[in-house]
Amino acid sequence: MDALEAMRTIGSCRRYKPDDVPDEVVFRAVEAARFAPQGGNRQPTRLVVVRDRAKKERLRDLYLVPWDKYYEAASAGTASTGALGEYDSAQRAADAANDFAHNLAEVPLLIVVCARSDALHVTDKDQGRPSVVGGASIYPFVQNLCIALRVEGVATTLTTLLCEYEAEVKELLEIPDEYLTACHLAAGYPERPFPTKLKRMAVEDTTFLDRFGDPIR
Ligand SMILES: Cc1cc2nc3c(=O)[nH]c(=O)nc-3n(C[C@H](O)[C@H](O)[C@H](O)COP(=O)(O)O)c2cc1C
Repeated sequence: MDALEAMRTIGSCRRYKPDDVPDEVVFRAVEAARFAPQGGNRQPTRLVVVRDRAKKERLRDLYLVPWDKYYEAASAGTASTGALGEYDSAQRAADAANDFAHNLAEVPLLIVVCARSDALHVTDKDQGRPSVVGGASIYPFVQNLCIALRVEGVATTLTTLLCEYEAEVKELLEIPDEYLTACHLAAGYPERPFPTKLKRMAVEDTTFLDRFGDPIR
């Protein structure tokens, strides 16, 4: 499989087979993913791969606190807006994510992505808006990892809700103080085939030539 096909068919996987993902598969994927760029090549990212059932149950329990609130709000939102087709598909996606949330401990691997706070090259912290640049030293690695796992036939879902419970997650996994948590990946072999038609905006709506608003063709 080439990189383009992997990118087009990656999707967020909501249901996984119970089969374990062997360490060597994870190792190979990380071995490729680590070549992602990062500010000053400071290499801030660390991964804690969680396979232990009790720890996954604790992560699920923590995740369900913000998730249940989010799902309730999302369901209320989809119920009050849009044409029926849009409503159906948004509610279906929310229901699948709800199912995923409640089955989080059954997902073969939960990968906690950490980063050393003082090794992020944050060049936008004084812009008077939410800072995002620190993440640019982390998420390329994460996306590389998702693509590398996809090539191995392993599906993933990136989640961030659990970052609200960073202190609890750090305690559970003995993550040192100087590290933050950036996101959590669920990973495993997908129960159904990988998706072929992900819903995304057209290139003309996202990419402009020479000035913002003039679409590239
Ligand atoms: C930054 C980010 C945060 C996300 N957080 C969550 C999350 O907390 N829970 C969840 O179920 N999905 C989460 N997702 C997955 C998105 O819901 C998913 O990518 C989106 O709905 C598109 O679905 P698709 O990739 O299957 O097309 C997150 C994705 C990203 C990129």
